[in-house]
Amino acid sequence: MPNVSMTVNGKAVSAEVEPRTLLVQFLREKLSLTGTHVGCDTSQCGACVVHVNGKSVKACTTLAVQHEGADVTTIEGLAQNGELHPMQEAFKEHHGLQCGFCTPGMVMSAIDLVKTHPNPDEKTIREGLEGNICRCTGYHNIVKAVKAAADNMGG
Ligand code: FES
Ligand code: FES
Repeated sequence: MPNVSMTVNGKAVSAEVEPRTLLVQFLREKLSLTGTHVGCDTSQCGACVVHVNGKSVKACTTLAVQHEGADVTTIEGLAQNGELHPMQEAFKEHHGLQCGFCTPGMVMSAIDLVKTHPNPDEKTIREGLEGNICRCTGYHNIVKAVKAAADNMGG
């Protein structure tokens, strides 16, 4: 079996994987980083979004071996020194979640969105998150949370 090495949440990791192992399986099953969820397995729901070299990627859609040497961040890597990331804080503050299943992917996508659109309006936020499906919230508070986080992050 091939070996794959990458940096995940700032830590060097390495493991043998079957060539068909998806990045999301590698994170969840080899590294026990179960904050990255699997909602559909068919690239639709966005529950599996992580950052690869700073860009959001649906981890159910890509193989672990394709990311040799990559720098990966999962939802577990966002909080620093016990402080939530401003996007996590805003989701909490603005009730941007109910069951929370979509939330890790939603937060990871939203951070990438704010990076490319530092001062997004509602339309930009809704369009930017159209690859992330939430079955609970109706999206209204998610949009509010992303707007608030963008403001806090200096947009
Ligand atoms: S599990 Fe990856 S998009 Fe749904
Ligand atoms: S909060 Fe339940 S799916 Fe989004």
